[in-house]
Amino acid sequence: MSIVFTQAHEDLRALVRDFANKELAPRAAQLDRDHAFPTEAWKRAGEMGLLGVMVPVEYGGEGMDHVAFCIFVEELARADGAVALVLDVTAGIVGECILMAGSEEQKRKYLPAFCRTERLGAFCLSEPGSGSDAAALSTRGQQKGNHYVLNGTKTFITNGGVADVYVVMARTDPAKGARGISAFLVEKGTPGLSFSPPFEKMGLNASHTCQVILEDCRVSAECLLGPEGNGFKMAMRALDSARAAVSAQAVGIAQGALDYAIEYTKQREAFGQPVIGNQGIQFFFADMAAQLAAARALAYQSAWMFDVEHPERAKYAAMAKLFCTEAAAKIVGEAVVMLGGYGYMREYPIEKMYRDVKALQIYEGTNHIQRVVIARHLLGTR
Ligand code: CAA
Repeated sequence: MSIVFTQAHEDLRALVRDFANKELAPRAAQLDRDHAFPTEAWKRAGEMGLLGVMVPVEYGGEGMDHVAFCIFVEELARADGAVALVLDVTAGIVGECILMAGSEEQKRKYLPAFCRTERLGAFCLSEPGSGSDAAALSTRGQQKGNHYVLNGTKTFITNGGVADVYVVMARTDPAKGARGISAFLVEKGTPGLSFSPPFEKMGLNASHTCQVILEDCRVSAECLLGPEGNGFKMAMRALDSARAAVSAQAVGIAQGALDYAIEYTKQREAFGQPVIGNQGIQFFFADMAAQLAAARALAYQSAWMFDVEHPERAKYAAMAKLFCTEAAAKIVGEAVVMLGGYGYMREYPIEKMYRDVKALQIYEGTNHIQRVVIARHLLGTR
């Protein structure tokens, strides 16, 4: 197994890092305080061609690979984990579902529009009664002639209310279990589609999360994404590669925290010398850097496995998501302590990173679910 960054990858990293340093980092605290959707960052990323990193050229994108997409997410997250999430969902999991299952017409309708920031996407799987047990979802999609009528509530939906198009998983055949679940593309403005007010979260405040409510929401049969009954598998496949991107997001947040803590302890003096002059402090940083290097290697290895369609890619994505998000939570937690009392203050960016990174252990499949997925692969039951 080998992953080598090409010059195009390095150029992309330099471009996104520069964008993130100049345009995201200075605004991150304010967006977080205001719970404000990062419209400017989204638009600017679109102008720079960044929302189409992984979208094929024929659909208006850059035609790069999963490794490139993870570079994009990591560098955004280093400056602002919330903006990374907003852009990751639309350019990642939603685009991936459409690429994987969409008709030519659906691809031409949505993918260029995502790249040009004319539309934003959301992925709607979880429900109040079914999160980890995704196949138990109860949203119904009943065919009535040339239409489907959708009824149900989706929850914890990133970009909910703000997005223009929603990939909605609904049960079209209750007798068929997971094989009775289909995916639909539902546009904002469709009668019967509404949203709860945004949830009050611990962190990732610039990323809006809410319930998506479907009440006799009538969509044409052309809104079916992929064949009827294929929705669960499509969602699982898209989540597999999305987990590689979450791993990169975790690495980015942790790198941002480590960099900040090192700089801080170079400036801060205690007992007559910079705090970083103490070997005990240096050892902490050494451990954090080693964990981060291991996490980054696993994140990019799992991304690369999607590029080469490696048979073990789903297992590795689950291992990467588990390892990287746990490591990142630990690293950011230690970075808080490195700043002493200031680490706990809103005024310093580490406090936001600590709140933001927590969600990554939970979304795109909790880390308990990642263990289930890994164990099933190990036992040969998947
Ligand atoms: N790829 C392709 N197909 C898959 C698959 C995968 N990774 N996983 C399962 N399938 C297929 C199976 O092969 C099976 O197909 P057949 O009927 O043809 O055999 C079918 O799907 C059902 O599979 P299982 O019986 O294994 O499914 P299960 O009910 O036991 O559940 C699970 C599997 C892995 C636990 C799954 O429920 C799961 O991943 N849960 C977590 C859900 C999740 O990640 N939610 C995140 C929400 S989205 C989010 O957070 C985004 C955001 O906005 C930030």
